[in-house]
Amino acid sequence: EASTPHVFVILGASGDLAKKKIYPTLWWLYRDRLVPKNTIFFGYARSDLTVDQVKDKCEQYMKVKEGEEERYQEFWSLNYYVKGSYDIRRDYELLNQEMTKVGTERANRIFYLALPPSVFEPVTSNVKKCCMATGGWTRVIIEKPFGKDSDSSAELSAHLAGLFKEEEIYRIDHYLGKEMVQNLMSLRFGNRIFGPTWNRDNIASVLISFKEPFGTQGRGGYFDSFGIIRDVMQNHLLQILCLFAMEKPCSTSADDIRDEKVKVLKSMNVVGMEDVGDGALGYLDDPTVPPDSSTPTYALAVTRINNERWDGVPFILRCGKALNERKAEVRIQYRDVPGDIFHGQTKRNELVIRVQPGEAIYCKVMTKTPGMSFGLEETELDLTYGDRYRGAKLPDAYERLILDVFCGSQMHFVRSDELAEAWRIFTPLLHHIEQQHPKPIPYTYGSRGPAEADAKLAENNFIYYGSYKWTKPSQL
Ligand code: BG6
Repeated sequence: EASTPHVFVILGASGDLAKKKIYPTLWWLYRDRLVPKNTIFFGYARSDLTVDQVKDKCEQYMKVKEGEEERYQEFWSLNYYVKGSYDIRRDYELLNQEMTKVGTERANRIFYLALPPSVFEPVTSNVKKCCMATGGWTRVIIEKPFGKDSDSSAELSAHLAGLFKEEEIYRIDHYLGKEMVQNLMSLRFGNRIFGPTWNRDNIASVLISFKEPFGTQGRGGYFDSFGIIRDVMQNHLLQILCLFAMEKPCSTSADDIRDEKVKVLKSMNVVGMEDVGDGALGYLDDPTVPPDSSTPTYALAVTRINNERWDGVPFILRCGKALNERKAEVRIQYRDVPGDIFHGQTKRNELVIRVQPGEAIYCKVMTKTPGMSFGLEETELDLTYGDRYRGAKLPDAYERLILDVFCGSQMHFVRSDELAEAWRIFTPLLHHIEQQHPKPIPYTYGSRGPAEADAKLAENNFIYYGSYKWTKPSQL
């Protein structure tokens, strides 16, 4: 029996996201024979383009290696393109006809909205009216922004819920497709060593950080009206927090996991101005940012989870653009050892889960200085993937997530109630910033960020010793 046919549709095929991310991802999945055999691809956008022109636009992002040329041509031979507007029903009817003509009635259909949020509503309405699969399932993938605050997000969710079942909607938060984010559950629930210490009795504070060494890179238009809190904190960092803090789910099914994540969010208070201290921080170097902008590009917020496990433990979310390095990590700082017999030599243990770059898990521990000495020193237990799993291929987040959509796994996608809770936590703060325009603290492009942020860590039970530097084992 031939495999079930699939049609993958990229709405917004002529745009930036399509050429930089979606087409390349589809090609890599196709190259590695991960998409179902019988899959064809449709691009849809307003521009009058041929498949060859779409191919040219994507060229520099596709990373075709020697020996893959034939397979690459094969991939494009399975591509089609339909020109149409986003709000005219007739155009979607034509798209539907083309898909049925080239494919079959039986095909499952996936629609990827690589589009600005301003057209989410008309596009999804028209997909529903004209393009639903008749002989198979239909799934719709959307990317943030899912609204700008609680109200606008609820409106979008209600609109989508009127058209599709929750099982048909795949909301991407691409951090959920990253190796170390997915590993959080394995680490916690697949080991005995961590679980029992995963609580307020042992953990002093948790720092979840995201740093980028570049600015808004021409995305100033989008970014200026969103800011770093919406761009990174409310989604990527909060998702990591949920996976870090949730109770053990009944099973690894998508809904059992998401039920637990929602419970964490429900136990969190709204973030207030006092939790972000001196407010958010910004810079104006990017020419695409309006000169009078006060949109934050750096933010630190101290959040708390009011439940039995985490009461009193600060969860510090910190993210910024235009800093000194690229790094995303979770840093768990343990409490001081009670009943010290080492004359104050011990430093706190830290468990670090480095999301990127260079996936690693390492644990800062105290050890006896090797040799005759009876002194103590800091060292680490280290699991650096590049060393331990040399040559292993860690797929890009989008590859995993798009494959999940083909497979029907919603484990790594955001459910509507999760989304609503995430907005509840941040909406009052966002509104306050927009209405009161507190002046962000300026910081220098390429710096570690503002000094005020370090002070905020110190106030929240995170001790920075400065005495220790992790060295990649291969560099020893
Ligand atoms: C996106 C944000 O969601 O994530 C960007 O909109 C940010 O501003 C990006 O640069 C970071 O993703 P990654 O995978 O490069 O860490």
